[in-house]
Parts: sequence; structure tokens; C-alpha cells
Amino acid sequence: MNNYDSMSDEVAKLVIAKIRKKPASVLGLATGSTPLGVYELLVEYHENGVDFSQVTTFNLDEYVGLAADHPQSYRHYMEKNLFAKVGLERKRTHIPDGTAADLEAECRRYDELIRSTGGIDLQLLGIGSNAHIGFNEPGTPFGSETQVVDLAESTIRDNARFFASADEVPTQAISMGIKSIMQAKNIILMANGGSKADAVFAAVKGPVTPEVPASVLQLHPSVTVVVDQAAASRL
Ligand code: PGA
Repeated sequence: MNNYDSMSDEVAKLVIAKIRKKPASVLGLATGSTPLGVYELLVEYHENGVDFSQVTTFNLDEYVGLAADHPQSYRHYMEKNLFAKVGLERKRTHIPDGTAADLEAECRRYDELIRSTGGIDLQLLGIGSNAHIGFNEPGTPFGSETQVVDLAESTIRDNARFFASADEVPTQAISMGIKSIMQAKNIILMANGGSKADAVFAAVKGPVTPEVPASVLQLHPSVTVVVDQAAASRL
């Protein structure tokens, strides 16, 4: 893809095609800067008649300790950028609860909930500059299910731009595990910008290793990689 807009356009088209084919689709959703353009386009499609009322969503992750109404929580991000604008039934929008009293139980509940809906039809993924997917940082075992994770220093630095300072970035998150992600029927990996070029190269062309979490996608039967020119510059 030439640029961010064409990457977003391509991914939005794939999501809409899935919803048109199966109105009760289960979508796996990502946060961060990468999917913002996709969400804007999904809102436009909805305004032009695409019905999201039967869609179920599962987000990849949430910061530990941030309540749903915290401006940097991923629940807040999803409300602002998508949920409130496309008529999604809130009871069908799922994000791990980073304030749960028993975080381990919350992780198990999340995986069971995904299984009980029949699994994710289409999972959107961004990629970290260290090739993380969700918040599965380098070294995470491929067999991991949803779990509490410590964020890598590089992730805290990357995400500090959304907070007043790096000190305010939570140090832990609940993240859907690698195995949980790999159980999705179809996956779209998105990336834009030169800061992702090394991670995209390692994920697509490098050895499959837990040190490069996104490299696990080479083992999945249905992955579409949609990247802009800058992110693809090493391919
Ligand atoms: P970004 O994050 O979209 O904000 O670059 C991607 C990721 O960390 O997975």
C-alpha cells in the first residue's frame, strides 16, 4: 500500500466484507495509532448503512489499573473511536477489565468468553516496534493464553506519547495470549511507518521465534499483511 490512507482503506474493506457476509461476526480489535484510520472508515460505512448491531467484539488488551472511564484506557479509546459511533450493542463489546480484583480470574473469564461465542472470525493486529502483538512482548511463549503481562521498556517508551510522562504509563496489562490470537479464524496484520520496518521484516521473513512474537503468524493458515510502503521498506 502506498500510504496510511490506502492501508486503512484496504483493511476497512476487508472488515466490511466480513460483516456483510456474516452480520453476527466476531471481530478481534486493536488499539494504538495504527487502526485509527480503519475505525474512521468503519464509521463512514456505518453512516452509509452497514449494520453493526449483531457484531461482537473482543479487544486484545487493557492496561492494569486504568478504569473504563480513564482517558487512556482502551475501553475509553474504543468508545470514543468506534463503539459510540457504529451502534454496537455494548453487551457485545468485550475488553479485559484491568481493574478486576482477581486479575487471573479475569484472564480465564476472557478466554472462556471468546470460546463461548464460537471464536474470533477476524482479528485485527498492529505490531509493536519490538514485534509484539497485543501486549505479548518478546519471549512470551507461543502457548500463552490471556494473561497479566509486564510491559517492555520499549513499549512504555512508545506509549508514553499518550500520557503526560513515561512515569504515568501503567507497567502491566492484561493481554490476550499468543495462543488466543492464533485461534482466530482470520487475521489481518497492519503496520505503517518506518519505525515498524524492522519488526515487519522480522515477522514476515525472519525465523519463527518467541523473541519475535509476530513471527508466530507465519504458522497461521489465514493471515493478511497490510502495510504501507515505509513499513514494507525492508521486505
Ligand atoms: P501503534 O501500536 O499502533 O500505536 O503503533 C501498535 C502496537 O503496539 O501493537
